[in-house]
Amino acid sequence: MTAYIGTPTSRVDGRAKVTGAAKYAGEFSAPDLVHASIVASAIAKGRIISIDISQAMDVDGVIAILTHQNRPAMADNDEAYKDDVAPEKGSPFRPLYDDRILFSGQPIALVLAEDWETARYAASLVRVKYNAEQPVTDLARARKDAFAVDEPAKPRGDAAKAFAAAAVRHQGEYYVPIEHHNPMEPFASTVRWEGDGKLTVYDKTQGVQNVQRYLCGVFSMNPDDVRVVSSFMGGGFGSGLRPQYQAVLAVLGARALKRSVRVVLTRQQMYSLGYRPAMIQKIQLGAKADGTLDAVTHDAVTVTSQYEDFHRNETTWSGLLYKSETARYEHKLARLDLPTSADMRAPSATTAVYALESAMDELAVALKIDPLELRLRCYSDRDQTTGLPYSSKNLRECYRQGAEAFGWSKRSPEPRSMRDGTDLVGYGMASGIWEALQVPITVRIALTANGHAQISCATSDIGTGTYTIMAQVAADALGLPLDSIDIKLGDSTLPQSPVEGGSWIAASVSNAIVNTSNAVRNELLRLAQQDPNSPLAGVKPDDTVLINGTIASKKDGNHAVSIADAMRHGAVERIEQEKATEFPNDGKHAHNTHSAIFAEVHVDEQIGVIRVPRIVCAVAAGRILNPKTAHSQVMGGAIWGMGVALHEETLIDHRFGRIMNANIAEYHIPVNADVHDIDVIFVDEQDDIVNPMGIKGLGEIGIVGVAAAIANAVYHATGKRVRDLPITLDKLR
Ligand code: MOS
Repeated sequence: MTAYIGTPTSRVDGRAKVTGAAKYAGEFSAPDLVHASIVASAIAKGRIISIDISQAMDVDGVIAILTHQNRPAMADNDEAYKDDVAPEKGSPFRPLYDDRILFSGQPIALVLAEDWETARYAASLVRVKYNAEQPVTDLARARKDAFAVDEPAKPRGDAAKAFAAAAVRHQGEYYVPIEHHNPMEPFASTVRWEGDGKLTVYDKTQGVQNVQRYLCGVFSMNPDDVRVVSSFMGGGFGSGLRPQYQAVLAVLGARALKRSVRVVLTRQQMYSLGYRPAMIQKIQLGAKADGTLDAVTHDAVTVTSQYEDFHRNETTWSGLLYKSETARYEHKLARLDLPTSADMRAPSATTAVYALESAMDELAVALKIDPLELRLRCYSDRDQTTGLPYSSKNLRECYRQGAEAFGWSKRSPEPRSMRDGTDLVGYGMASGIWEALQVPITVRIALTANGHAQISCATSDIGTGTYTIMAQVAADALGLPLDSIDIKLGDSTLPQSPVEGGSWIAASVSNAIVNTSNAVRNELLRLAQQDPNSPLAGVKPDDTVLINGTIASKKDGNHAVSIADAMRHGAVERIEQEKATEFPNDGKHAHNTHSAIFAEVHVDEQIGVIRVPRIVCAVAAGRILNPKTAHSQVMGGAIWGMGVALHEETLIDHRFGRIMNANIAEYHIPVNADVHDIDVIFVDEQDDIVNPMGIKGLGEIGIVGVAAAIANAVYHATGKRVRDLPITLDKLR
């Protein structure tokens, strides 16, 4: 029964969000709440010589100022600071730990006061003396010292030889700058002091249990004494996968004062957290004259901090997507005096596929083949790295439906050949790919005799609509109306969930809800069958279904017992079941989502202004649980991709290692005036292999490929190939 799954259901938490009933981490209060403000390092590298807090302490309302010299005890071993998403190699950042400065903006003192304005004013009076060293924050400079990471996929064949011998060759170097997370909601933690050292931590995070484990490690606390809650998030996108330092600072303050404490980062302080690492990528493509690939090589240099080796598998996407005889990858990391980089919406794929798909466009030009036709000639039915077939891959249909909706056939091949008035017009396209992942997760369902069900799981809803899809799946699995379903999530006391990220929660939690619903159904049947005259006498559990508030025989719907009657026969008023669920990859298939992106740009020839009147995104992502929230995910990804192509860039003054545009006035993102028609198409994709429900997950796939499609359209419009993002108008001169 699918009354709700697959229907464009409005968010079940929508009313709470628009009326303000939904509370975010920085909005919780507590009696006697203390407000904290962070003092940030003015240098990027060196040591603190002294911190003079005397003037700040004299301000009325200031309670205490914590520094590395006077703070409560924290763990002194790296292991205690490792979280579920932390890189294997390195020594995680410890806020307020010692006198070392690792990056500009590093928190070095916490001012605790009776109100926020006082705390912030007093923070401005803290005087710090440093022993400053020269930082390196420029990837172009650090590149020569970059070191190889050992993770890239195994090479296939002799790519160097095949490239050298190829009939048509393209090679190019592509650059993506550092980009910073700018979710609407800044990071914040409100720690409620519950007495006896017990804490409730309202935290902005994508993983409450990850934060709980982390805080227990850092402060040697018992998990029973630390409850972490994150009911709503104003955008995560990877920024909240790792615990952020404001949670540590809020807990430090609460433990020092034995009071409740709130810490909210300013927008500027958001730029002292992780970021999308800058990436220099060299791509080589060697092809036969017919457009089939002989060689793909992908060499990437990305950015990490001085203290951790954080990277994703940046280069493998290139060898995965297209059929090629040979492939070779190299991935190097460069250390900068910045915080460790972080996951940011489709980490690695956003940047890597930008480079690959730009290079494919350039190869198409060299081959004089239509860019879409080139993709079709290189189409692969197997993951080229592992040789495994895809559990499903309907990218061909994405190309077809996307091209048709866009009107790709109207594209004239020559650059600068299309115009709209005085504007140059360009059509560009690109492919996108992401992983269809699943994680072990546990769901508890409590069904009461009145036909109401509560579904609990510790997963977050990072703003993607998890509450809603969970309610839809539960309503269908339990045969109840949507408004009889109550979703509890984002609380560390709830059944186990990993962080919500990687687009893996929808598939994981939905299959877990069905699994747990089946256990509820079996229990209901057992109760119903306690009546000797039950219409379900002798019926096997798998032959029953929960439908319209009853448990019914699949074979004969007249053989049904209402939930209330079944519970009455069993003399219970509620049934509770909890099941851990996992659908690991069978090892025989590649699990991926795909997309085809088509973009139209208009370029003002005199001043180089680029507009994007139209983007078509055709996505194959298995079963779509909710076309409405799924549409929002893909549309958001397309807008973000526009930002990657044309707007976003963190600018650093390398003399001081300081970010110059740490605010959303000068760090440009697309605004309403930049966003026009975005057409989202979900192509049919049945998948019986990926998991029982055929769900592949959605979110990250929306951004992948968009930057390349726009960059390729800019080339088509202007005849000018810009290989470093963002494509600002000065680069078109
Ligand atoms: Mo995901 S990197 O949490 O958008």
